[in-house]
Amino acid sequence: MRFYIKTFGCQMNERDSEKVEAILFENNWQQVENPEDADLIIVNSCAVREKAENKLYSELGRLKFINPKAKIVAMGCVAQINYEKLKHIADIVIGTNTIDRFYDIARDKSKNGVFILDKMTDPDHIFPHTSRISAFVDIMYGCNNFCSYCIVPYTRGREISRNKDAIIEEIKQLIDKGTKEVMLLGQNVNSFENSKNYRFVDLLYDINKLDGLKRIRFTTSHPKDFSKELALAIRDLDKLCEHLHLPFQSGSDRILKLMKRGYTKEQYLSKALMYREIVKEGSITTDIIVGFPSETQQDFLQTVEVLKTVEFETSFSFKYSKRPLTRAANMDNQVDEEEKLKRLNYLQKLQADITQKKLKAYEGKTIEVLVEGQSKKHNGFSGRCRQNIVVNLEFRDNITEGKIANVVITKALKHSLVGKVQGQ
Ligand code: SAH
Ligand code: SF4
Ligand code: F3S
Repeated sequence: MRFYIKTFGCQMNERDSEKVEAILFENNWQQVENPEDADLIIVNSCAVREKAENKLYSELGRLKFINPKAKIVAMGCVAQINYEKLKHIADIVIGTNTIDRFYDIARDKSKNGVFILDKMTDPDHIFPHTSRISAFVDIMYGCNNFCSYCIVPYTRGREISRNKDAIIEEIKQLIDKGTKEVMLLGQNVNSFENSKNYRFVDLLYDINKLDGLKRIRFTTSHPKDFSKELALAIRDLDKLCEHLHLPFQSGSDRILKLMKRGYTKEQYLSKALMYREIVKEGSITTDIIVGFPSETQQDFLQTVEVLKTVEFETSFSFKYSKRPLTRAANMDNQVDEEEKLKRLNYLQKLQADITQKKLKAYEGKTIEVLVEGQSKKHNGFSGRCRQNIVVNLEFRDNITEGKIANVVITKALKHSLVGKVQGQ
């Protein structure tokens, strides 16, 4: 049997799709690149912005048209909340808490229909992996923050931390199969907690002890819970990479309050600058929303100021998108699309200049790169440095996947670096 899978959305969704692939592979299914060749077509959806949600509907329409015989599964965040609509379009609808249904689908035992649960039956279950060098590992599911613009708490349910023993066991299994780097995933990893005496930093210390593992990364940190203790762990733990993704969303205190983010601009800046101070070689990236309801030019200028002060290595900025179920959708003074686009373009141009300056500063330096494999865009191997920047390697001799190499940076491109393995 053959399957085709298309994934939209964030790393949680990428990991969920990987679980599906691994389950199907274990049952001797074959993955195909062309949906026309598939018996089963799966679309893993994202609901975070309206545009992302619409992609699911157009993709389902397109796939049904090109392969009307295949069975269709709609899964992921849109499926979790819009299953009523999707049950008329897809044969099987699987939400974010029912990925384990794929064990039956893989054995061709599943009935068509809608499979949605509010909570996962067993969050500690270890799903199989297909990844090798760098692997995603869920450490928690869901989110309790209910930022006023965000649909994720509705699509992913309430926050639940996995048990540390399950996480460590999963990582040990990965190491045995050749994994060198783990990316720990959660919507708000800083609030991971097994007990009052076992929190995120304790987990990091335990993972750092695992032999054979070379690197640890994590995402996402919520600024309200980002602590000095975590910054010190990033400095002190040899495997923990010096990269922090710390979304600030807006620099205006008034907007931050309306967003229900739980921090002010000053509090954000002091945490970001504390990290810069403690983790000397560290990089920092962020997410920003422009055009949140009632955002004025003055508010926007505060966002610009944060961008200029912290000088993020990269930022991901988005036009505010009205989402059902969220509080902000009913707020007055929605900003018009043209204005949002103007602000977005301004920020992205500013960020491009900052990124270029940051990348240029690597030229001539020698940095540590984990070789992940053949680059899709560039002819040769590529990997990432500890700061999470992609490094394309100039020569191929003596380079193997999974090796940590010392690389001399020869050139900064727009979003990545080019370098030469030392000693070649
Ligand atoms: N848990 C993460 C974010 C997950 S969603 C955190 O709190 O940092 C990823 C990003 O999408 C958010 O950081 C935000 O910048 C953006 N986003 C979420 N809802 C949005 C909306 N309604 N419109 C535009 N961007 C949104
Ligand atoms: Fe959404 Fe806020 Fe939760 Fe992030 S912390 S997933 S932005 S509600
Ligand atoms: Fe991720 Fe999109 Fe869901 S950002 S959590 S896939 S809504």
